[in-house]
Amino acid sequence: MIGGSGLAAGIDLDEAQEIPVSSPFGEPSGPVTTGRLNGVRFTFIARHGSGHVLPPSQVNYRANIDVLKRCGVTDVLALSAIGSLREAMAPGDFVAVDQFIDRTIGRDNSFFGPGMVAHVSLADPVCRRLAGMATSAARLAGASVHEAGCYIAIDGPQFSTRAESLMYREWGADVIGMTAMPEARLAREAELPYALLGMVTDYDCWRGVDATVEVSEVLEVMKANAELARQAVRALAANLPPRREPSPFDFALEHALVTAPGARD
Ligand code: ADE
Repeated sequence: MIGGSGLAAGIDLDEAQEIPVSSPFGEPSGPVTTGRLNGVRFTFIARHGSGHVLPPSQVNYRANIDVLKRCGVTDVLALSAIGSLREAMAPGDFVAVDQFIDRTIGRDNSFFGPGMVAHVSLADPVCRRLAGMATSAARLAGASVHEAGCYIAIDGPQFSTRAESLMYREWGADVIGMTAMPEARLAREAELPYALLGMVTDYDCWRGVDATVEVSEVLEVMKANAELARQAVRALAANLPPRREPSPFDFALEHALVTAPGARD
């Protein structure tokens, strides 16, 4: 689990322990906590660090994904605050995101680089199996959940201008946030099935000449939603199938490497 704004304090896990794990990609956002829920191992990292100290462009997304992988994580579910670009997706609703538009720039967005070239497929960036389980769990917890939505990732930290917000709607985006990219790209490169359950905190600023986003409004909705998100995680743990079947995304690199092994030697 990757917890965004509102979930920095983490989720309650049985036998929780912080595990020291480092990454060659640098410092992750904070400690990694692992424990059990309903007998299933869950591992948690707070995306913005404990105390919410890291702005979206300062998060070391590569280190975060890398340490989860090193801890033996098999599937990544992100829980994030999002703004809504659609009337029907109201503050308080949850959205199981299924597509992304990436407007971020300058973030380290790949584990690969000179010497090892790989092009993974991102046509379907989200694991529908995991997203479906998260949707059912959130509904069991009492949340109103939209089964699909296109997320536009912006750099922030400022919210969008009204012209941008209106343009993103024209582009087909349904929700907006600052962190799912490059996280989703990196999860794919790490062969980790990824899903994002977004919690709508506001309507962004597209709805009229006086519409604005205020952080106080975002935090207030987040506070109300955090407990619902924690209940959704408990419901997810209680309803996971007894066995994890392999996912096609477990093998995302199989046909993605362009550089032949040993080509650097
Ligand atoms: N996160 C929550 N609300 C947001 C918004 N309106 N724009 C970008 N990120 C957000």
